[in-house]
Amino acid sequence: MAKPKLLIIWHSRTGASEAMARAAYDGAMKAIQNHEPNKAEVEVEILAAENVVPANILSATAYIFVCPENLSSMSGMMKEMFDRCYYPVLGQAEGRAYATMIAAGSDGEGAERQIDRIATGWRLRRVTDSLIVNLQAQSPEQILAPKALSITQFNKCSDTGNAMAEGIALGIF
Ligand SMILES: Cc1cc2nc3c(=O)[nH]c(=O)nc-3n(C[C@H](O)[C@H](O)[C@H](O)COP(=O)(O)O)c2cc1C
Repeated sequence: MAKPKLLIIWHSRTGASEAMARAAYDGAMKAIQNHEPNKAEVEVEILAAENVVPANILSATAYIFVCPENLSSMSGMMKEMFDRCYYPVLGQAEGRAYATMIAAGSDGEGAERQIDRIATGWRLRRVTDSLIVNLQAQSPEQILAPKALSITQFNKCSDTGNAMAEGIALGIF
């Protein structure tokens, strides 16, 4: 039988969301490295949004969606992934767990709200608090510059990945 799987889907323009997704992957791998007999074995997969097909989503037990907020919305490539996958997945992922991690310059709530609405359509279950990482990029120069996470920001994303993988291993999700 296939192992239950955590799927991390990301899109990033200047590196922050990619780093957040990789931090979540890192945290998830830490949760599953020392497998204990009372826990299920868990697989962790990380995919760029442009490479995601409906079968990837259908094969997972839980999801972390990671992208920047662009012009008060989720980034276009993330939206394109949902547009392509929405109807093929509709009605087949009900009750599965999800988390979001949004990279923002100042806000991030618009992107989070949009993903929450799509997730509601799929009848997914949000199982973590909102995680918006504010990179404080507001001038055009700051916005276009490559981004790196602080240790605190990295740890928050890593903790989310860890909690999601742990929840799957314990059969909570
Ligand atoms: C075209 C564009 C529009 C943006 N619009 C917003 C916005 O509406 N709200 C916000 O908080 N940040 C906005 N930002 C800033 C990004 O969300 C922020 O720099 C984020 O860290 C980028 O993540 P990334 O490095 O994964 O691309 C915008 C950035 C770009 C390039």
